[in-house]
Amino acid sequence: MITYENYSLQTLHTFHLPIKTRYYVEYASVDELRTFLAESPLVKEYPLFHMGGGSNLLFLHDYEGVVLHSGIRFIETLSDDDDTVLLRVGAAVEWDTLVEYCVKKSWGGIENLSLIPGEVGASAVQNIGAYGVEVKDVIEQVETVEIQSGAIRIFSTAECRYAYRDSIFKNELKGKYIVTAVQYRLQKNPEYHLEYGHLRETIGDRPLSLSLVRQVVMDIRHSKLPDCNACGNAGSFFKNPIVPVALYEKLKKRYPDMPAYPVDAERVKLPAGWLIDRAGWRGRTHRGAGVCDTQALVLINKGDAAPQDIVELSYMICRSVKEQYGVELTPEVNIID
Ligand code: EPU
Repeated sequence: MITYENYSLQTLHTFHLPIKTRYYVEYASVDELRTFLAESPLVKEYPLFHMGGGSNLLFLHDYEGVVLHSGIRFIETLSDDDDTVLLRVGAAVEWDTLVEYCVKKSWGGIENLSLIPGEVGASAVQNIGAYGVEVKDVIEQVETVEIQSGAIRIFSTAECRYAYRDSIFKNELKGKYIVTAVQYRLQKNPEYHLEYGHLRETIGDRPLSLSLVRQVVMDIRHSKLPDCNACGNAGSFFKNPIVPVALYEKLKKRYPDMPAYPVDAERVKLPAGWLIDRAGWRGRTHRGAGVCDTQALVLINKGDAAPQDIVELSYMICRSVKEQYGVELTPEVNIID
């Protein structure tokens, strides 16, 4: 177990704000984590916050508590038959390391999720998604430790109550369980998902393979999303809002070119990036914060942003989108007060 005091999180989260935590603790195994939870005086004295790759976080100020981070890194094969392979992966494995590993082995299911920043543990909390695929579709089990008791609990996919960028770990069980490993089932005869955006047309008539899909997704992401290392950001700042069909139809009359994705008979998902862009925010700045000029859903740290600059900019965008379309935006980024 490694413990640091007054530790800078600037390089450990992708907004790269100059934030410190009172304590930073990294454990290397489930046993170490359980011992820490049972025995460390820090657990009784301070609030705990468990962090993954820091790619979806906005700290509003220095954290007066303990930031915990997993050092559990392994990829093991639990079963392997003619059609599928079941992998068990430690929570601290970089998500894209896992995607690259599976694509190299020709195991399909997560190639559309190439280059999503963050770690395996967060994939199961956040239900990460991109280009028509969500990680819930391949998750089989989520292994956790309960913070209060130290007990090990394994969640089935159904128990995780997955929805769009959502799970039980962000609702009823928020802050109660730590993900230590995730089991994913991959396909040996992959089914490709190319319906989203320009995937199919970008692939054109090139022979389809998992590595080609991965390459195309990486190219699209490189062209639209700013590199977190070059320019602090946390990917999409807001969720795509889900609105009643009646509101969508009203808006569609005013904005005939507005894209939309059906959710069910009563609801439609609207692209927040489009709404923000058409409200005139793309490329605009507020003090040290800005709206990315290639994807308006991404807010950036221009270099010297204070957390408040980013939050204020997000409030201004929410107000403007509400006024123009009557649509409420909610942050996708986890804001830590
Ligand atoms: N659009 C604009 N202007 C913009 C941005 C988007 O007009 O500035 C339009 C696009 O042209 C497109 C539509 O809005 O018609 C949707 O844009 P895009 O395909 O870029 O996807 P998104 O809905 O903005 C979601 C995810 C991304 C994921 C992409 C691709 C959310 C909140 N975001 O973005 O995930 O990579 O789809 O699947 O669901 C993330 O979660 O951090 C993230 C980057």
